[in-house]
Amino acid sequence: MRLTDCHNHADFRRLAKRRLPSPIFDYIDGGADDESTLARNAASFGEVDLIPNVLRGVEEVDLSVTVMGQKLDLPVYCSPTALQRLFHHDGERATGAAAAKFGTMFGVSSLGTVSLEELRKKHSNPQVYQFYFHKDRGLNRAMMQRAKEAGVEVMMLTVDSITGGNRERDKRTGFSIPFRLNARGLAQFVMKPAWGINYISHDTFALPQLDAHVDMGGGTASIGQYFTEMLDPAMNWDDVAEMVEMWGGPFCLKGVMAAEDAVRAADIGCAGVVISNHGGRQLDGSRSPFDQLDEIVQAAGDRLDVMLDSGVTRGSHVLKALSLGAKAVGLGRYYLFPLAAAGQPGVERALGLMRDELIRDMRLMGRTRIDQLTRDNLRFRDGAEPRALAGR
Ligand code: FNR
Ligand code: LAC
Repeated sequence: MRLTDCHNHADFRRLAKRRLPSPIFDYIDGGADDESTLARNAASFGEVDLIPNVLRGVEEVDLSVTVMGQKLDLPVYCSPTALQRLFHHDGERATGAAAAKFGTMFGVSSLGTVSLEELRKKHSNPQVYQFYFHKDRGLNRAMMQRAKEAGVEVMMLTVDSITGGNRERDKRTGFSIPFRLNARGLAQFVMKPAWGINYISHDTFALPQLDAHVDMGGGTASIGQYFTEMLDPAMNWDDVAEMVEMWGGPFCLKGVMAAEDAVRAADIGCAGVVISNHGGRQLDGSRSPFDQLDEIVQAAGDRLDVMLDSGVTRGSHVLKALSLGAKAVGLGRYYLFPLAAAGQPGVERALGLMRDELIRDMRLMGRTRIDQLTRDNLRFRDGAEPRALAGR
């Protein structure tokens, strides 16, 4: 199986699975507890149907959107994800370059393996810095200052990860940063020698966003430990209000699920919220972001930009979310498996397929601009109507 054999998310996932040692594949692929939220994220898009219009003259389709003041050529962006160097030796360099080619935004994680400064210098597409709230307040301030000096456009605080989700696949393999595997996990690495040769013949693994502050590059902590020991579960609205003020530019919260929290985010001056359950990796049993979208747009969509991620793998998912009022949609595993499968060309192929799908589906919907998508394009299947629409 080669990259050119990949035509959709399932194909990229299959190719990534062949190339990656299974503990790494499972880290990307897995969710929390019973993975019921992970499954629901994907399924929720199936409960709403698109209603196309015909005969509208749709030769030129413009997919551009403006979100939190950033102009994007596509209504999708690469959501920040950790540890990309483990998935492919080019890591975030590949993701950043592919996103730049498609004129869209990409996120750099606090747990990223390439420095936010290097990426900011190299590309001019909007960059998000994804941030966790650490117990050490000085560290929080220093990280924001660093991002500001580097010229990062958008600050994104992840609020759904104040403690580590229960990822049982990782417990079984002993997956940790970078490798502290148990015997069963280690055996899986031996079975993928090509990955191992690549890994040791390129730059050493590093966490440049955190290196100066946290001793993790040495393989001493698992992701769960990082969350549990370093991050501050006492974080509250006042803390974040202070950060929003200190940042002074577009600031958004990633991992909001309740409408009242989106309203509070607007109250403290956030430019956006990302409705997300972290791709089903944190609270299992959480509702899917797509199921919550309508309610949140109704509650706060006139005061901040509402985005969504989790479970998005098709252009039609994106069009459904945009029709309900999302301003842009985040991709996670959709670009991570291509990255693992083939590096930058992989991410480019995935973004290219997404762009083609979006253009094709816009034409089939009878639309030429994203702002022509409205909730009138949609029908909820029996019993699936969201609360905010009921009784309309
Ligand atoms: C993530 N995600 C994530 N989010 C975040 O705020 N900081 C991070 O460091 C990471 N790291 C990370 C690693 C991996 C391997 C995955 C799969 C996800 C969550 C990510 O940004 C996004 O919210 C989800 O991936 C969206 O769900 P889908 O699209 O993967 O279903
Ligand atoms: C994850 C963290 C790093 O989902 O956000 O693995």
